[in-house]
Amino acid sequence: MADYLIWHNHKVSRKDREKIKNQKGCALWFTGLSGSGKSTIANEVEYRLNKKGYHTYLLDGDNLRYGLNKDLGFSYKDRVENIRRVAEVAKLFVDAGIIVLVAFISPFLKEREKAKKIIGKENFIEIFVDTPLEECMKRDPKGLYKKALNKEITEFTGIDSPYEPPENPDIHIETMGISVEEAVKEILGFLIGRGIII
Ligand code: ADX
Repeated sequence: MADYLIWHNHKVSRKDREKIKNQKGCALWFTGLSGSGKSTIANEVEYRLNKKGYHTYLLDGDNLRYGLNKDLGFSYKDRVENIRRVAEVAKLFVDAGIIVLVAFISPFLKEREKAKKIIGKENFIEIFVDTPLEECMKRDPKGLYKKALNKEITEFTGIDSPYEPPENPDIHIETMGISVEEAVKEILGFLIGRGIII
């Protein structure tokens, strides 16, 4: 099909869009187990960026599964497609000059690598929200670990579906013993160091 498609170069470029926003687009990719704190931390980082005047958007795994990805389940194949789609969406947000936060379990190393390639490695910041499985199971905010252990749901990450931790994340947040506020500070500090925000 791609044989009959022609890429259009638009008059307004990413640089033009970034210029009127006075910011640089980038993707903050949060990965971690269900219940690790990805959404909570991403939510708070977005809040702080918004208060500082940055134009942001938060793509959350659970929320996107209500719409764009509602046809997808949790099989290996569906998770691969889930991540491919969100990577393509994040790429568009970056091109729009927005700081996009992506909070998906995104359990597979290879698929996160692919996402990085789609978005562009210079635009991609991987944030590993590292919470031990035992702690996630203890918190169990949605009661899903309990259901998974009772086999009411299957292919649950950490129980009967694997999670492959990042080998070399840009930011490694070990949530045990630090507050959400401290995690947010670490991320904002990294963004300042990278010259993404001031
Ligand atoms: S991903 O693995 O494909 O990246 P995603 O982040 O979109 O997952 O969705 C994960 C969320 O879906 C979890 O936080 C949880 O609320 C819900 N969920 C429902 N069933 C499962 C399952 N089998 N495995 C993991 N998460 C599940």
